[in-house]
Amino acid sequence: MTIDTQLENQYRFDLDTFDDIWVFGYGSLIYKVDFDYFESAYGYVHGFSRRFWQGSHDHRGTPKHPGRVLTLIPTPEETCFGRAFRVDKSVFEHLDHREKNGYLRELTTIELSDRTVEGIVYIANRDNAAFLGDAPIDEIGKQIAESRGPSGFNKDYVFQLADALRLHNQHDPHVFSVEAAVKSALPS
Ligand code: BEZ
Repeated sequence: MTIDTQLENQYRFDLDTFDDIWVFGYGSLIYKVDFDYFESAYGYVHGFSRRFWQGSHDHRGTPKHPGRVLTLIPTPEETCFGRAFRVDKSVFEHLDHREKNGYLRELTTIELSDRTVEGIVYIANRDNAAFLGDAPIDEIGKQIAESRGPSGFNKDYVFQLADALRLHNQHDPHVFSVEAAVKSALPS
């Protein structure tokens, strides 16, 4: 199911009053930065966990064979590591297009090592048409191992994220168990 949230995102917040704004990345934004930014810092959002519960029909899968990509699920007591960027508001046009399949801009508080800032995070909520939700870990691994879309193999999205988290000494049990499940689902 492909849905396009670009228009809705433009009306969610009036960015015209900002000179620049922070955006928080918890997935591919950690390792794939294809936009200009003024500064960047690693940090956390509280009350969320990262899950491979969003279907990808346009990047890491196809409408017939969707892949699985990340979204944030509200989880009290949990904290999610990521990378924040202070960007010009024009960057949101690019990000809205890149993340158009179900993701909506949400305001969030981002804790950086030396300060706390308000910013935007893209979240695909449970009620979006591409949401897949939870599944047994071996099924998630198999689906990802078998999926590929215009942006490449779904497995590479998982492996690149897991490598980036290890580089920053971040242990994310969900990401690492999905990584292991994908590896066991791949033909040897
Ligand atoms: C990211 O953090 O890479 C991201 C994830 C989902 C939508 C937009 C950005």
